[in-house]
Amino acid sequence: MLTKEYIDELKQSNKTELYRLINENGNNPTLVFLLENLGRLPNGFSGDCFIPLLDSRSEKIRYLAVKNLGKLGNDRYLPVVYEIAQTENNTMVRREAVSCIGRMHSRKAIPFLVQMLSDTDPKVVLQAIRALLVFNHNSDVATELKKLKDHPNEMVQYVIRKEFFSEKQTQRKTQKHTESPEYMRNVIVHGDVLEIIKNVPDFSVHLTFTSPPYYNARDYSIYQSYQQYLDFLTDVFREVHRITKEGRFFILNTSPIIIPRVSRQHASKRYPIPFDIHPYLIEMGWEFIDDIIWIKPEASVKNRNAGFLQHRKPLGYKPNPVTEYVMVYRKKTDKLLDWNIHQYGRNIVEESKVNGDYETSNAWKIDPVFDRVHSAVFPTELCNKIVKYYSYIGDLLFDPFAGRGTFGKAAMDLDRFFFLTEIEKKYIEKIRNEIVNHSVFVEKTPTIIDAETFKNIAKGVNHDA
Ligand SMILES: C[S@@+](CC[C@H](N)C(=O)[O-])C[C@H]1O[C@@H](n2cnc3c(N)ncnc32)[C@H](O)[C@@H]1O
Repeated sequence: MLTKEYIDELKQSNKTELYRLINENGNNPTLVFLLENLGRLPNGFSGDCFIPLLDSRSEKIRYLAVKNLGKLGNDRYLPVVYEIAQTENNTMVRREAVSCIGRMHSRKAIPFLVQMLSDTDPKVVLQAIRALLVFNHNSDVATELKKLKDHPNEMVQYVIRKEFFSEKQTQRKTQKHTESPEYMRNVIVHGDVLEIIKNVPDFSVHLTFTSPPYYNARDYSIYQSYQQYLDFLTDVFREVHRITKEGRFFILNTSPIIIPRVSRQHASKRYPIPFDIHPYLIEMGWEFIDDIIWIKPEASVKNRNAGFLQHRKPLGYKPNPVTEYVMVYRKKTDKLLDWNIHQYGRNIVEESKVNGDYETSNAWKIDPVFDRVHSAVFPTELCNKIVKYYSYIGDLLFDPFAGRGTFGKAAMDLDRFFFLTEIEKKYIEKIRNEIVNHSVFVEKTPTIIDAETFKNIAKGVNHDA
């Protein structure tokens, strides 16, 4: 029986026998096993044994033959592989053929690869781009690649724009990535976030986590229309984008809400806020990263299925909503997350590590918190996770709709700084009693100021700078 060990042995000491096995096995599982387990091919291995397999009736064998040819990186096989790239019906085989041509790193392949740029399969185009990028110092190649700037496929666009049209983000030279404005640290500003945020410089905060006011679902949020509500959130989040540091995160907690029916003759209406706000966020430059689902115990939520329990009639089914969305976005950048991490010194990275248990999936089971003063507060446990997973010690964390400041408190307790804005006096008082008056051993004593004072401080500092 053919084993991996035997194949390895033949590769080293009896290539002729190996060629014979490859060519004499026909379309059978032994040949598939052989081709799948060839691994790295030794010096001097001839790819000629794979050529007859390119005509095999089995797609799998054709695929494996091209894959193994690719390992050789030998441009002698360019014409035969190019023909496969052009004529093969199976997409996987075609993609592998283009990848194989790329692995040849041969100038001779350039005209073939340029032709593949107009292929209808975006994956083939991406493979061709990847192969051509090796030659991007060649101005003809660069010109051909740049033509794909407005390609219909977003991945193709992304790669080309990153390689050739990357806009350097204009981060203020005075502020390092790890730093933040001193006058914003542990500051709570009482007022309308849209007024306040105008005075915050670009690239100031490392992380924003917020739960915005609901659309008419609670007493504190009255908007003329759903569109007006979405427009308001969009204005705020566009500003959040501006003040966020390069490549850092914005995490938004929302859930669909229900507006009860006006009378028995009318239906209630559900508004899918997380889904409706999402396209606006993408459009303004946030990149979608993750959808985390916060799951609450069913006993803690409003029961909607009492009616169904009685009548059991299809269409009248109403599940109890036990979830909220915690949507994770990143400020779009060409830089990888490693770039962000490398901005920090070794000690901060070490001290910020998330030790012990952590959430391994995107479904987080957390009990809600009920508060007598505020009807929709974050659980501390949720805030702690967000702080730990998405920021480093010493970072500046923002909540534009701070409520009673739960996120700010978590940030401070975990050795980060917070910047909060909140419009309601009663919640500001709550923050004063529970955060400001109880902060001991913190690097910067929290302060509450009004919007006008903040504006003057920010103006002064930024004017002097
Ligand atoms: C869902 S609550 C946030 C609760 C908060 N996460 C907590 O743990 O307490 C939304 C908050 O946004 C505040 N708010 C609404 N409109 C605002 C605005 N224009 N500027 C600042 N805060 C606002 C409301 O007063 C409310 O406290």
